[in-house]
Parts: sequence; C-alpha cells; structure tokens
Amino acid sequence: MGEHTVKKIHPVPDGNIIKSLSHHLGPPQTKTKSGFSCCKCICWSLCALITLIIILGATIGILYIVFKPKVPRYSVDRLTISQLTLNLDLSLYARFNVQITAINPNKKIGIFYQKGSHLSVWYKNTNLCQGSLPIFYQGQLNKTVIHVALAGQNQYGRTLMAALQEQQQTGRIPLDLKVNVPVKIQLGNLKLIKVRVLGKCLLIVDRLSANYKISIKATSCKFRLKL
Ligand SMILES: *[C@@H]1O[C@H](CO)[C@@H](O)[C@H](O)[C@H]1NC(C)=O
Repeated sequence: MGEHTVKKIHPVPDGNIIKSLSHHLGPPQTKTKSGFSCCKCICWSLCALITLIIILGATIGILYIVFKPKVPRYSVDRLTISQLTLNLDLSLYARFNVQITAINPNKKIGIFYQKGSHLSVWYKNTNLCQGSLPIFYQGQLNKTVIHVALAGQNQYGRTLMAALQEQQQTGRIPLDLKVNVPVKIQLGNLKLIKVRVLGKCLLIVDRLSANYKISIKATSCKFRLKL
C-alpha cells in the first residue's frame, strides 16, 4: 500500500524531494483520509501521554513514600575575615571564611556534593567575594561542618569601603550569602537524581574587620531544591 501512494506522487513538479521525504515518513495522506487517522493519532498520543504521566506520578509517589525525602539543612555558624584591603588601583580585595554546618536529615538518602558549586557574599547587591564547596559525599543522618574560603575583588573599592565603614557605625552590617550547589541524590543504592540546592542567607554581622571575632547577630536562611 505504501509503495502505491509513493508512485502516485511521482509526477508532482518537485517530485524528488517529496519522494525522498515520503520514503522516510511514509505516504503523505490525502485530506479525506487524514481527518480520521489524524484524530486517531492524536487520541493515541494523548492516551500514551496520560499513561506516562500516571506512571511517572505513581513512581514519584512510591519513591516519596519509601524514601521520605527531606530538604537538607544548613546553617552559617561563623564568619571570619582574613583580608579586607584597598589595593593601589583602588579595588577592594576581600577574603572571607565561612563555617557552614550541613545536615542531611534523611534516613535513606545520601547526598553527593559535586563540583561547580557557587557561594558568594553580597553587600547590598555588590559582590564582595565568592568561592565553592568541597566535593564530598554526605551519608544518611550525617552532620558535617564545612569551611569555605571566599575571595574576591571589587573595582569600586573606595566607594564600597566608605559604605561599609558607614554601615559599621550602626553595628549591624547586612550581608547576603548566596548558595548554588549541584548535588546528586542517592536513593538507597541507586545513584540517580541530579538537583541543585539553591539558598540565600541574610547575615547581620557587627563588624567587617580582619582578625576580629565577628559576631553574627542574626541569620535567616532559605533553601530549596531545583530539579
Ligand atoms: C559525615 O560525613 C563526613 C563526610 O563524608 C564524614 O567525614 C564524617 O565522618 C561523617 N560523620 C559521621 C558522624 O558519620
């Protein structure tokens, strides 16, 4: 039947293209036929799609019940500054160290922290420094303390330094810590899903000086997972 239709098409002006297409795609349908088979086709696709969605939903549901996933918890415990200096070119060089506690509250889920993570510290939409988390595996119900070194250079050093010093007079400097970490989730023995941990912490610190025990007056963090 297929060959028959192809032959009919042959005399059409640009027949070569249509012919070669119809070899790949099967016979082109005439208008009277296509109404029915197109409807059937859409119907089948829809059925297949709905079945797929149901299977997917059921799978996610079962995984959810079996593994009871919980979003990992993080807290910023300490911030130290090893360097905050104006360079000769009037850029500001900053080196911070942050201590983060990561808690995996899951009983059946392990977390692989992967390369490509990005942590950055901001003062009022100005980036001060950035760094990344180490690559490591965090097992079930594990609590790990991580030290992250962040460094950065900002070209508007003088303005920034002046703003920071002025803010320091109030004894409350708001800093944003932004986190973007790719992780692989291990379900039982299956190493499966790749997600991103996205987070933002507002830290209120009393001072920004090197070699000074900075006290974090308040922190509020929000974390979420992105597929
Ligand atoms: C938690 O995980 C870290 C990193 O894998 C490991 O060094 C540490 O020993 C673990 N802690 C416990 C209590 O298992």
